[in-house]
Amino acid sequence: MARILGIETSCDETAAAVFDTDQKKILSSHLFSQVELHDIYGGVVPEIASRSHLEKIDTIIAYALEQAKLTLDDIDYIAVTQRPGLVGSLLIGISFAKGMAWATDKKLIGVNHLEGHIFSSFLREDGTVDEKLSFPYLCLSISGGHTALYIAHSFGEYELLGKTLDDAAGEAFDKVAALLGLGYPGGPLIEKYAAKVDNKDFYNYPRTKNIKKLLNFSFSGLKTAVLYDLVKRGAFDLKTGIIKGKMTLKLQQEVASSLQVCIADICEARIKLAFEKYPEIKAFAFVGGVACNKFIRGRLKALCDKKGTYFVVPPMRFCSDNGAMIAFVGSYKAEQGAFSSLEMDVFPTQD
Ligand code: KG4
Ligand code: ZN
Repeated sequence: MARILGIETSCDETAAAVFDTDQKKILSSHLFSQVELHDIYGGVVPEIASRSHLEKIDTIIAYALEQAKLTLDDIDYIAVTQRPGLVGSLLIGISFAKGMAWATDKKLIGVNHLEGHIFSSFLREDGTVDEKLSFPYLCLSISGGHTALYIAHSFGEYELLGKTLDDAAGEAFDKVAALLGLGYPGGPLIEKYAAKVDNKDFYNYPRTKNIKKLLNFSFSGLKTAVLYDLVKRGAFDLKTGIIKGKMTLKLQQEVASSLQVCIADICEARIKLAFEKYPEIKAFAFVGGVACNKFIRGRLKALCDKKGTYFVVPPMRFCSDNGAMIAFVGSYKAEQGAFSSLEMDVFPTQD
């Protein structure tokens, strides 16, 4: 039996959680979201992010332990996000984890954040592990920093099938929301505005047809298409970057809705293609911050239901960045003996 403390500070969430291998359950998961600190800047400011992690990390870890009714003495291993992410943010989590591991003589486990998202597929609402999800499964992981399609073969073993060649899908949500003057983060706001006009497609934005046969993604053209369409409609001034009078509520809702449908279509097309290429796949998992989007969830679930493919999406608190997925990855890494040294480095990039 082992208890793993998971720490996540790769971007703008200071998060900690505890996983218990005996009960196969997340005992607690807690975070401080910095969204309000970055809101006025329209995106994450790295310097503010790392300072805030430093202020909050000890309280968040203490609270996660308290919620789990444990003390640090009850913890066997300390897992922490090692890559990829903002270097200053990662450094806070890693340095804190190293300090704790050294002071308490516990083993340290460096975790890849993207692996965390992929295997968050197993986490259910009550923190238990989904025993019905079996390997190999297809996994679409989309957030503000990445968009990628994988096949998960076993715990810790996954194959990249395709990824974005430019922006992440979450970034497209965030940037278009900024163009519309809605705020940050854009995804939840776009979803809200789109629902007001029944999630319909009004403007038929481009669906990256040129990469139709591949499993890669591209979203930068979509963002540019929205920008020029708004300029054409007299709602945005390209020279000053200022929103103009023709930006009505109706236009905001229609653009938000058309963007959401377009991104759902792009995802659906890739998944259909992956199902054709890999007929042995029996399950599909949708993970990452964008997987909070109910409309896209619905579209992808309908696709899987039609095919008889088992569909999973983690509860929302485990879709966006969290410590639970890091603790869970830490649990199988501990079982595999994949520990890290106290000298482990921070890797801001994936490789
Ligand atoms: O996984 P996450 O919390 O952090 C990263 O690793 O990036 O994902 C954050 C991203 C943001 O781009 C945000 O706009 C998007 O997830 N997001 C959504 C929704 N909720 C969050 N996108 C679409 N619809 C949502 N409901
Ligand atoms: Zn993430």
